[in-house]
Amino acid sequence: MGNITVVNHALIQRDLSIVRDKNTPLPSFRAALHRIAVGLVYEATRNLLLEETPIETPLEPTTGYRVANRIVFVPILRAGLSFLNAALSVVPEATVGFIGIRRDEQTLEPHEYHYHVPPAENEHTVAIILDPMIATGGSMVAALNRLSIDGYQHCAVVALIAAPEGIEKVHSYYPTVPIFLAALDRQLNDAGYILPGLGDAGDRFCATT
Ligand code: PRP
Ligand code: URA
Repeated sequence: MGNITVVNHALIQRDLSIVRDKNTPLPSFRAALHRIAVGLVYEATRNLLLEETPIETPLEPTTGYRVANRIVFVPILRAGLSFLNAALSVVPEATVGFIGIRRDEQTLEPHEYHYHVPPAENEHTVAIILDPMIATGGSMVAALNRLSIDGYQHCAVVALIAAPEGIEKVHSYYPTVPIFLAALDRQLNDAGYILPGLGDAGDRFCATT
C-alpha cells in the first residue's frame, strides 16, 4: 500500500500504548507523543541530502557533513503542534510553517482556517507535514494541495496513526509522498474516528475534553 513506513521500534510501540490508553495522565500523554515524534522524524529524515564540510576534531582535520536540504516543518493545527517541539529538537535549523485545518464533525470535510507557510525556496526544499492522525485523509490531502500550489515538490508526512481509508485517499492523490507512522490501524468508525486509535488527538493534547 503506497510509500508507507510503519516504525516498529520497540520504544515507539511502548509509547504508542501510553498515548492510546484513555487513563494516561496528560503529562505522560504529551511526553510519550514527544518521544514518538523524535523517532518518527529521525526516520523521515534518514535520506536527506548531505554535503561534505571540512571540520577539525581536537586531533586532526576530517570530513564532516551538513544537511543540504532546507527543511520546513508544517504542523497541521491543532494536533500537529504536539509533534513540533520534538521535530525541532532533531532539526533545530528548520523553518516552520502552519496550516490550520478543522474537520467538520458532520460532513468530515476539511476546512482551512489559517495558512502561513513560506513558499518553497528551491528544488531541495522539503516540507515535512506533522499531524498525528490520518483518518479519512481529507485534512492531509488539503494540506498537500496547498503546499503543492506553493511550489513544494518534495513533501513527507509524519503521523502517528492512520486508517487504511485515509492512506488510500492520500496515495490516490499523492502516490509518491512518503508517510511515516507508528501504526496503521484497522478502520474508521461511523463518526470518522480511527479504531482502535486514541480518540481525538487535538482535544487530548490541548486538554479540551
Ligand atoms: C484531526 C487530526 C487531523 C484530522 C484527521 O484534526 O489532527 O488533522 O482530524 O481527520 P481526516 O483525516 O478525516 O481529515 P481536527 O480536525 O480534529 O482538528 P484539531 O487538531 O484542531 O482537533
Ligand atoms: N481525528 C482524531 O483526532 N482522531 C481520529 O480518530 C480521527 C480524526
